[in-house]
Amino acid sequence: MTFPRWPLAGVAALLLAMQAQAADGQKIYTQGGANPAAMACGTCHGADGRGMAAGGFPRLAGLAAGYSAKQLEDFRSGSRANPIMQPIAAALSDEEIQAVTAALAAMPAPLMAGVGRGEKAEGAGEVLALRGAWERNIPECVACHGPGGVGVGESFPPLAGQSAQYLRAQLEAWRQGTRKNDPNDLMGHIARSMTDVEVQAASDYFAGLEHKEASQ
Ligand code: HEC
Ligand code: HEC
Repeated sequence: MTFPRWPLAGVAALLLAMQAQAADGQKIYTQGGANPAAMACGTCHGADGRGMAAGGFPRLAGLAAGYSAKQLEDFRSGSRANPIMQPIAAALSDEEIQAVTAALAAMPAPLMAGVGRGEKAEGAGEVLALRGAWERNIPECVACHGPGGVGVGESFPPLAGQSAQYLRAQLEAWRQGTRKNDPNDLMGHIARSMTDVEVQAASDYFAGLEHKEASQ
């Protein structure tokens, strides 16, 4: 029995198309999109996608494609307001968003130690991260963001591996209502229930988890 030829040709074409898409995503990252307003991502997010703390540029390497694509759509719709990212997201086509977010997910994420809820919690940031403050309806952060804040699936982004400046800016954005893109106001409610000291302490705690790992 001879194997029909056309399905093989179809598979080859599909593989080529997939390769082309992967290449496009990387090209958008390093050189920008077709519209010049979609500037090269690496300029701000770093050649390795690990972000730049001083500029408030988050790490994108290793973020789930579904999460990143949702953020770009939220910047487009304005449910996440940011003067830098909104025009960039608006200048990307749907296909470009699909390609670049697939490339981001494939970039290696920093390695982080998993810290579970069973660990001893010391200090305001760690207590909130591992125990929460249930008397104020704040669940422990790791319940959604995963042990050690490494992120869970497409919906819950990693907190570890982001800078304290960036994490804090996001919590402030929810408090001020410039970021209101989360399902059921989950994060808005949490951010508004936190004290200023807790916002700083939780940001420092999750940012510090990567440093611990990096220094080992
Ligand atoms: C001029 C600098 C700059 C460039 C270029 C840039 N970004 Fe950003 N990006 C930012 C800043 C600043 C933020 C944080 C915005 C905020 O605080 O809400 C951000 C946030 C993001 C986020 C959200 C991350 C998260 O954890 O929620 C995604 C996704 C993103 N950028 C994707 C891209 C892509 C894709 C490109 C290239 C097409 C790109 N960015 C180009 C500055 C930049
Ligand atoms: C009930 C689930 C839940 C809990 C508990 C939770 N989060 Fe979140 N968090 C989310 C979701 C969902 C998002 C992403 C929302 C979106 O789509 O942009 C998020 C996003 C974030 C972001 C933005 C990350 C980024 O890359 O932009 C920060 C910062 C954050 N959470 C901090 C915390 C802290 C600190 C705690 C604990 C005090 C916490 N979260 C507890 C669900 C949760």
